[in-house]
Amino acid sequence: MDAIEIAGGKPLHGEVKISGSKNATLPQIAASLLAPGTSIFRGVPELADIRTLGRLLVHMGARVDREGGTLRVDASAVAKPEATYELVKTMRASVLVLGPLVTRFGRARVSLPGGCAIGARPIDQHLKGLEALGAKIELSHGYVEAKADRLRGATILFDLPTVTGTENLMMAAALADGRSILENCAREPEVIALAEALNAMGGRIAGAGTSVITIDGVDALRPMDVEVIPDRIEAGTLLMAAMITGGDVLVRGAKADHLDAAIAKLREAGAKITPESDGLRVIAPQKPTAVDFITAPFPGFPTDLQAQLMACLSVAKGASRVVETVFENRFMHVQELSRMGADIAIDGHTAVVRGVTRLSGAPVMATDLRASASLVLAGLRAEGTTTVQRVYHLDRGYEALEAKLQALGANIRRVKA
Ligand code: EPZ
Repeated sequence: MDAIEIAGGKPLHGEVKISGSKNATLPQIAASLLAPGTSIFRGVPELADIRTLGRLLVHMGARVDREGGTLRVDASAVAKPEATYELVKTMRASVLVLGPLVTRFGRARVSLPGGCAIGARPIDQHLKGLEALGAKIELSHGYVEAKADRLRGATILFDLPTVTGTENLMMAAALADGRSILENCAREPEVIALAEALNAMGGRIAGAGTSVITIDGVDALRPMDVEVIPDRIEAGTLLMAAMITGGDVLVRGAKADHLDAAIAKLREAGAKITPESDGLRVIAPQKPTAVDFITAPFPGFPTDLQAQLMACLSVAKGASRVVETVFENRFMHVQELSRMGADIAIDGHTAVVRGVTRLSGAPVMATDLRASASLVLAGLRAEGTTTVQRVYHLDRGYEALEAKLQALGANIRRVKA
């Protein structure tokens, strides 16, 4: 198992280009199941999760080829519309194949994802929506068995905004008979990107990005050819890497309108952030100022940047109050940050972060994707050497992060643990 070793204390300088978005690519690849023929995805990041979904589609009988940043998926012949537990347990986003399989092939057998490190993460909203569209859903032996002759348009009201729930039902409704109206939808940029991809396939979707999405089902879709959008969470992570080191960095590819809430909080904490021709430039203060923040569905502060901003605030002037409202167990980075000298007290969904004058390097353990990113950020600031173990968590969602940070002047390398 690889580890990442960081000798901290160097402010980051220079420019870095972010990769394509993991959370936009995954649903778009799943959407390729909706049409016979070969879909093309350009600017696809080299990530473990993308490889996992590719393996799942091959297992079903699709053809998947990668050449550099371009991925091709031929979903003409999908012999086995099923996703096994072995594959789904390593990546819960596999549940995104459920909607496409049911609506194109009339049946699907997908393992229930089970919980994960950050929370129970049920898929009840996905299943409730598919039933509303006329699918027969049975749960047996840890699998969802879904059947439908042809899905029928319906109105679906989500109990809460769910990103992959919105995406799954958008894909299912795209080939349903008649109009579907989805209410209380997630509004993330990745949902908009999926709707644009489905419309490029011949779908008729309106309203993505708002909480009400209307889908007029069609009889057939054609393959897509799309460029994936930049990864806003990687962009936010790199802005925060500059913040925690007191650096000056141009994050190329970062789009301000994907990061309003994060930019507002970083400015409140003393960062100077200016849009430049092809990205965002951040000039950070030597020490951040404490800020309170609360995570929420888009356009609120993204839960996927909570751990990274908390790392920055662990060396701020003053105390910050962090409230995590999206997942029930997303503070696992706290005990690791505390081992590096951070002063953080957790009370349920709230963490109080009292800024300390310095962090000290230590061996720490990654527990989930974004927690591992926050430990890398803390290592960039800490005095001495930090070794982040189990970086396979990091490799799920960040393409060559240590190379990107090295290019910005960080003293960081990957080692065989
Ligand atoms: C997506 O997960 C992202 N993953 C997550 O990113 C992200 O943290 C999350 O959205 C929130 O923004 C992908 O897009 C592949 P949700 P998703 O359904 O769709 C509850 C990362 O780091 N819920 O929006 O699984 C759920 O438990 C990952 O890249 C139900 O109760 O998240 C959670 O509390 C981590 N029932 C809340 O809704 C359901 O049927 C939001 O979850 C579905 C969700």
